[in-house]
Amino acid sequence: MDSIIVTGNGPLNGQIPIAGAKNACLTLMPATLLSEEPLTLTNAPRLSDIRTMTTLLRSLGAEVSTLQDGKVLAMASHGEINPVADYDIVRKMRASNLVLGPLLARLGHAVVSLPGGCAIGARPMDIHIDALTALGAEIELKEGYLHATTKGGLKGAVHEMRFASVGATENFLMAATLAKGTSVLKNAAREPEIVDLANCLRKMGAQIEGDGTSTIEIQGVDRLHGATHPVVTDRIELGTYMLAPAICGGEVECLGGRIELVGAFCEKLDAAGIDVEETARGLKVRRRGDRLRAVDVVTEPFPGFPTDLQAQMMALLCTAEGASVLEEKIFENRFMHAPELMRMGAKIEVHGGHAKVTGVNRLKGAPVMATDLRASVSLILAGLAAEGETIVNRVYHLDRGYERVEDKLRAVGAKIERISGQ
Ligand code: UD1
Repeated sequence: MDSIIVTGNGPLNGQIPIAGAKNACLTLMPATLLSEEPLTLTNAPRLSDIRTMTTLLRSLGAEVSTLQDGKVLAMASHGEINPVADYDIVRKMRASNLVLGPLLARLGHAVVSLPGGCAIGARPMDIHIDALTALGAEIELKEGYLHATTKGGLKGAVHEMRFASVGATENFLMAATLAKGTSVLKNAAREPEIVDLANCLRKMGAQIEGDGTSTIEIQGVDRLHGATHPVVTDRIELGTYMLAPAICGGEVECLGGRIELVGAFCEKLDAAGIDVEETARGLKVRRRGDRLRAVDVVTEPFPGFPTDLQAQMMALLCTAEGASVLEEKIFENRFMHAPELMRMGAKIEVHGGHAKVTGVNRLKGAPVMATDLRASVSLILAGLAAEGETIVNRVYHLDRGYERVEDKLRAVGAKIERISGQ
């Protein structure tokens, strides 16, 4: 398995281009199953999770071609569609569950393995099951697979989710586009990736209103047609790279970044002593003084502070003046990076869903272990400002969500290299 070696090397300066959003692309790709006509995505990120979704869609009978070095995904589902999403592919990535809604809409039945993904909590499927059941599906769990059927196709319905699940909103939205009649989803998730999915579905002929708010209304149509759609900017990659100059000093412009994608995050950066300036090309980030200030952070569904930036924010707060409390409200087991940061000299106490971080002057490089996708990159960020060398082991999770991380950071002056393992 590959490792990454980072050596603290002073301030970072320059520009970092931000890719299309992994989480948007992972829900846009299964939308190809909703139409027999081609769906083309541009600005796709080049990540192993996207390759996993490609493999899954091909196993279901869709055609997926990667063009322009992987930045364009040309898809078509005009042939026979296989309703079974196999465990061997699905276990690699939880987002595989996003084929459930489209398969049900297209075929009226689906058999989808329960997913795997990052080990950051229980992550059950009950909200997805309730949402699709509301549209008339009958879903049973047998031998690790969800068996879903409909009698006479999906029917529009009003449904309120017990929690604003991102994936369940996406599955409901895709399924309801082809259901008979009107569907209303209440307590829907409001993430920008959902708005991006709705924009793409509208280009395909779907009738959707209210995406980006907590009530989405969908008027079912008989069929969807082809479309070309650019994937929205990755707000998590954006936030991650905004933290690089915040931690190390210097000034970095994140190309393609927009404030509305990272509003709550920018408020916390401001409170910690970091300036963010909107430019014509993106967001420019620099630290105001020498020492950062402690801030408290609570993760929440969008537009709140994203759970996917909590680990990286913790890396920043490790060297801020004073004590910060981070509260994790989305995933119950998402502080696995804390003991690794402590190996680098961070002072962190974890009690259930809270972590108290007391800032130290400087972290010290150490060998550490990456436990999940966002934890991996938080250790790299910490290593960028630490004294000496940090070796981040087991970085395979990193490649699921960050394209060419070492190239992007090296381009702004970081000392970072990848060591290939067996
Ligand atoms: C998506 C993102 C992930 C992000 C998360 C929260 C993708 C591919 N992944 O994941 O990066 O961290 O949103 O912003 O877009 N839950 C249930 N039952 C369900 C579904 C979810 O209890 O049926 C719980 C989960 O265990 C978790 C919480 O709800 O505690 C949030 O999950 P959800 O919003 O569904 O996240 P994902 O769509 O899996």
